[in-house]
Amino acid sequence: APGPLPRDMLRDLLAIRRDPLEYLRSAAGRWGDHIAFPLPRSPVLFVNTVAGARRVLVENAGAWSKRTVQYGALSLVTGSGLLTSDGSAWREARRVAQPAFHRSGLVAVAEQSVAAAERLRARWDATASEGVVDVDAAALQATLEVVGRTLFGGDVTAESAGDGERVVAAVLEALGVVISRARTPVPGWLPTPSRARLRRANRVMDEVVERVVARRRASDELGDDLLGLLLAAVDEGRLPPEAVRGELVTMVIAGHETVASCLTWTLHLLAEHPEAQRRLHAELDAVLETHEDDDGALRAPSWEDLRALTWTRAVVDESLRLYPPAWVVTRRADADDVVDGVVVPAGTLVIVSPWLLQRRADAHPDPETFDPARFTGEGPAVPRGAYLPFGAGARLCIGRDFALTEAVLVLAALLRDREVRPAPGPAPVVEALVTLRPRHGLPLRLVPRSPT
Ligand code: HEM
Repeated sequence: APGPLPRDMLRDLLAIRRDPLEYLRSAAGRWGDHIAFPLPRSPVLFVNTVAGARRVLVENAGAWSKRTVQYGALSLVTGSGLLTSDGSAWREARRVAQPAFHRSGLVAVAEQSVAAAERLRARWDATASEGVVDVDAAALQATLEVVGRTLFGGDVTAESAGDGERVVAAVLEALGVVISRARTPVPGWLPTPSRARLRRANRVMDEVVERVVARRRASDELGDDLLGLLLAAVDEGRLPPEAVRGELVTMVIAGHETVASCLTWTLHLLAEHPEAQRRLHAELDAVLETHEDDDGALRAPSWEDLRALTWTRAVVDESLRLYPPAWVVTRRADADDVVDGVVVPAGTLVIVSPWLLQRRADAHPDPETFDPARFTGEGPAVPRGAYLPFGAGARLCIGRDFALTEAVLVLAALLRDREVRPAPGPAPVVEALVTLRPRHGLPLRLVPRSPT
């Protein structure tokens, strides 16, 4: 495969660091769909085709592992967990965790999502000036509460909710360290302030998880939420004891910023597309039965409303096409493989980018245009393999339905009687870190809306 010359690699690495999305886009324009990066220790292949992504993630997934730089950094925080593990340890943990993401678990997600949105609304009413709020900060706060409370407080007492939020804060601190370290490589043996911060954050995670576990052990039943399932599996010898912490921390990492990123860009897109927002409001009015409350207020959305909110869901789906929070997915070849006719030796790191695949003109007509009708059957169809915001194959996101439930219901609760409009100021700059984030936050105006 073509790609940059070794002598240009340093320059290109700096360009990647400055703006990875733009670099990948221009590299694809320059070298095509398969690009080899000649790095000394492990060759890197960037694959930008639907068939190539399918080969690596689905068809021959057994030959590919998660032993990559990306997942190595994450595992400094998680220890072993679903996101970063491979082989039989991964398979068993996935089997144990899966039932927590079935319908009964999602009912709790739905309740916590609406509750978090309602708290946000109350805070905005108290503090927003001219209706302008930073929706990025708001989305991070709301998703923190949802993941913290659903995972750590099946019982949601004040104490357990607080623990959930404490562990999330510690995870974020640790992630921050890991990311800043990835950006400024320091030899592993050097004692640095960041290493001390990482140790401290890890200790907080250990302590809180220990307390949460002790509380659950002291109650009559282990329960059938994630924590209960993990503890039962440890008792049966199916999982090692350290898996409890690993999986809980993993869910926080995988389920916090991703959903926040999705909500942030969805609100941005709605502000920019008033016609899509009008249709969303009309749907909310119809589904939430506006006129039944005595005081004229719309009622909060519920789990039952979820299925009927088809346009709201299509808006979220289309937002995940244009702004996939997980903008890059990586794998390492455990064995030699052939991807799209390109011979790939064992050890090669492969990069697949939902961001680029989902903006390919040959897969998505008019790819830069926001058009939720792609997902309602009214617009151009979305080819299956060319849409992978949640990955594909056996490693498909376990939290997909959790995330979609949360995103749809938070949007419905926030926008049932409000409208989101652009705020004055420059357009947001997309920054590709762990997820896609607006570089300077995302101020938007939330104003009371007129009836549809
Ligand atoms: C895996 C995206 C929300 C937990 C993944 C993968 C993607 C993804 C692309 C596959 C990574 C790969 O193949 O290398 C997203 C997006 C989300 C989201 C875009 C929100 C919009 C969540 C939530 C949770 C979660 C809410 C949990 C509460 C996980 C876990 C894995 C995973 C545990 C690893 C699954 C496995 O390998 O068995 N996610 N995710 N995610 N996600 Fe999500």
